[in-house]
Amino acid sequence: MKSFRSRTLALIRDFSTEEQLFLYHKARELKERWLNKGNLDDFQIKDPVNIYIVFVEPSTRTKESFINAARFHKNARVNIFDAEHSSFNKNESYVDTFNMLTSYGDYSIFVIRTRLEGVPRLLERKVGEFAQRHGIERPAFINGGDGRHEHPTQELLDEFTFLEQNNFENSHIRIALIGDLLHGRTIHSKVDGLRIFKNVEVDLIAPEDIQMPEHYVEKMKSNGFEVRKFSSIDEYLSTNSTAKIWYFTRLQLERMGEDILEKEHILRKAVTFRKDMLDKISEGTKFYHPLPRPKMNPEIPTFLDELALNGWETQARNGFWVRVVLLSMLGGAITMECEETTQPFAQEDEYEFIIPAQIVHGTKGLAKEGKRGIKPIENGTVIDHIAKGKSTEEIFNTVVKIRKILKLYDCDSADGIFKSADGSYKGYISLPDRYLGKKEIKKLAAIAPNTTVNIIKDASVKEKYRIKLPPKIYNFDEIRCKNENCITHPKNGENVAASFVRIGDKLVCEYCETPHEYSEIWMI
Ligand code: CP
Repeated sequence: MKSFRSRTLALIRDFSTEEQLFLYHKARELKERWLNKGNLDDFQIKDPVNIYIVFVEPSTRTKESFINAARFHKNARVNIFDAEHSSFNKNESYVDTFNMLTSYGDYSIFVIRTRLEGVPRLLERKVGEFAQRHGIERPAFINGGDGRHEHPTQELLDEFTFLEQNNFENSHIRIALIGDLLHGRTIHSKVDGLRIFKNVEVDLIAPEDIQMPEHYVEKMKSNGFEVRKFSSIDEYLSTNSTAKIWYFTRLQLERMGEDILEKEHILRKAVTFRKDMLDKISEGTKFYHPLPRPKMNPEIPTFLDELALNGWETQARNGFWVRVVLLSMLGGAITMECEETTQPFAQEDEYEFIIPAQIVHGTKGLAKEGKRGIKPIENGTVIDHIAKGKSTEEIFNTVVKIRKILKLYDCDSADGIFKSADGSYKGYISLPDRYLGKKEIKKLAAIAPNTTVNIIKDASVKEKYRIKLPPKIYNFDEIRCKNENCITHPKNGENVAASFVRIGDKLVCEYCETPHEYSEIWMI
């Protein structure tokens, strides 16, 4: 049996598709019994639990449905944190705040909404460590929406609602996502949440300024989804082939920059439904919306409320049952029957990116370079193939960056730009009597992957390494996430070190998941 105690739901994929389907199955059971006034005792959390509702950003549905869901559990002590009058206003950090709250009970579940992205993941790690230090059970964190990043519990209730419409059949879904796909966190959670369906078609309907970020589109495609793009509802309807599930989301004005805000009227027009469109949609179509819809010019105008295509009211009501079940799971009342996976994760070699290379020419190459102005060295390190194939300006900038970040400016050294035999250019730094430590080589690999490091002893190359982009980059003072809304961004003053993982050829922030080119992570 699998227990969900101490689990964190920061991203929808923190629950596997099997776990999500299990939750939907239990939510269906709870809803049916609730509506038929059946016995609900087995959903009740048995052990005492502190449930903290911490909303640092406005909310009606998520906050209130969680408060009601928490109060369903008779053994739960429900705490509604008053963020406005808390020590947040005395510049207390998220970690210190949640460490404190954790110490007020033996086991806590936190529901948290923030403007900053990546907060739930940070708390899972740091507050988990605090709990361990003090012999308290690790708390569970539920992301109630972090900036424009993710809204996993909205995703749970959305998927539950789509399944309900589909008689809990999950072989196929075709869905249109309409509105602010750039800033809408409920949309971003769909990228992984829709994986509970075996075959997925997604129609993205939004003007270019608020279209889905490309990295999410790529992820949907790599998840096996068929993806199409349209710039307006009119363009979509003109195809005469539309989805039966339309998922609207509001223009997230509070997250838009001035440049996009200026175009609000045009953008809104492209994603707002009109009366004359009614006879163009397929029979059986349902409209959904995470809500709230704006009272002025809503994307789903109020004349639609009375029609059969109104799915958003049922969707919003489902939030309660889904959240009761989620709390039941995290509180240990519901366990999942499954085979325990006892296989440990394979141990990753932190330095697998340093690849020994064959020494072909001994000192010959170095002697040749020497003819062009760099003196061959007796002992030390030669960093070669820097930014090979790039423009000479880029190579020069990379050489300067390496020197600055590795502090290679106050030592005997030389550098240059050379033309390779194949006609391309490359950078070169020669460091007599200087050898690089592993941490320096890791930095070098993250500044200029595919560089070669030659270890010279007694005037010949004794070791040669080709270095690739490291799988994980962290613990360096000179890196930062470029997303100003990320909890790690220095501007937010939370004193959280940036950390990146390599996914394909990109470095992705471990907290807000913003993808970076390797050149973008350095502050220098
Ligand atoms: N759907 C949603 O998150 O609504 P609230 O902002 O009202 O919580």
